[in-house]
Amino acid sequence: MSDFKIGRLNHVGVAVPDIEAAIETYRTLYGATDITEPFDMPERGLKVCFVKLPNSEIELIEPLHDKTAITKFLTKNAAGGQHHICFEVPDIHEAVKEMEARGATVLGEPRIGAHGTLVIFIHPKNTHGCLIELMETPKGDH
Ligand code: CO
Repeated sequence: MSDFKIGRLNHVGVAVPDIEAAIETYRTLYGATDITEPFDMPERGLKVCFVKLPNSEIELIEPLHDKTAITKFLTKNAAGGQHHICFEVPDIHEAVKEMEARGATVLGEPRIGAHGTLVIFIHPKNTHGCLIELMETPKGDH
């Protein structure tokens, strides 16, 4: 086993039925001022934005149609809820290899995530019910 380990907490993913309403809540209830403009990720059927905090980010995620993984989540959690936790890794292909070697179920192939770098997801059964996203650290960060 290599000395591979997860790095910085990049963001917490939160599924919401209405991203504009959620942005308004983070602005008015919590005073968050640095919130990115929502953008569509059509290949995943999602609308996403980031509430930027001093030490991390909240990723707000609204489904664009009925066939997304988030839609399914929202049928069980109508008001929205915490969907995943994202840790940075230096190299996504190394991460996949190591996670599989350690017996974890990697969901799908690496693909471009909301930050423009490669991501994968680890099945919640491997992490006490938490869906984990691993994301390659954006170049030039940190
Ligand atoms: Co995410």
